[in-house]
Amino acid sequence: VTESPSTNKRVLLAKPRGYCAGVDRAVDTVERVLDKYGPPVYVRKEIVHNQHVVHNLRERGVVFVEDTEEVPEGSLLVFSAHGVSPAVRESAERRNLRTIDATCPLVTKVHKEVNRFARKDYDILLIGHEGHEEVEGTSGESPDRVQLVDKPEDVDQVEVRDPSKVVWLSQTTLSVDETMERVEQLQERFPDMQAPPSDDICYATSNRQVAVKAMAAECDLVLVVGSQNSSNSKRLVEVALQSGASAAHLIDYASDVDDSWLEGVETVGVTSGASVPDVLVFQVLDYLQERGWGDVEEVTTANEKVSFALPRELRKDLDENP
Ligand code: F3S
Repeated sequence: VTESPSTNKRVLLAKPRGYCAGVDRAVDTVERVLDKYGPPVYVRKEIVHNQHVVHNLRERGVVFVEDTEEVPEGSLLVFSAHGVSPAVRESAERRNLRTIDATCPLVTKVHKEVNRFARKDYDILLIGHEGHEEVEGTSGESPDRVQLVDKPEDVDQVEVRDPSKVVWLSQTTLSVDETMERVEQLQERFPDMQAPPSDDICYATSNRQVAVKAMAAECDLVLVVGSQNSSNSKRLVEVALQSGASAAHLIDYASDVDDSWLEGVETVGVTSGASVPDVLVFQVLDYLQERGWGDVEEVTTANEKVSFALPRELRKDLDENP
């Protein structure tokens, strides 16, 4: 009797995956604001970069806006997890908006680093993706001092006033390996360049990359649950491919899986970005189980215990007017 090939079908499930402490806090903030004040609640930009989360909150009465100018004067506005520049805060003040800041504390940390080095008159080379909301907020702390370095060729364009007063900082959700490549390139031009006082790429981003690396080489296919505009989710696809996965795809929902991807596949790796609720991952596991991939093994590379308190202005409100 020959063994059925289906017995080799298995799923490796990365851990850590999914929600990070910053996303958890940001979504919790909006839910509590909704519970306390009722709709409409205005949120500047997507609270976190996930279609499912944004869709659910919209259904509950959240109005997502691109700009503070769209918010009626005097309303309550939540700033998203990716952070905002001082110019956005000022514009909210001018419109007399009450704001609750759901910026991830690890993004705020990078804002503070920008300010600190700008005060010391450094040129700041910010490694990050052009157009990403986080980068807009971070550079906005000191637009005259920050230069963005995204692609390898950007390194040649950078101009500094004093090569002995240069520091690199980064977006929190980059590929760790790619960032180090960019740093090495920059170091060749600026040997005295300083490094950030502590890692700017956050624990959640790097932990999810380590977990996907640990399983990628065994996988014929890696499914990363996450949205197209989620930087850390997209990086997981790249890291999976660079680390030996035969194929990797970014999907928002189980229904995005194309059955042809599963042809000839034995081991499927599953992970999810930091803005993805686990319910979406379980739906992918159900989908795979229905097609014969019911054997699920969790690959654990770290146990995360990070959590952040709600924004101070919200805690104060909840305490004073429970
Ligand atoms: Fe914060 Fe990192 Fe999550 S910066 S929002 S903990 S991905």
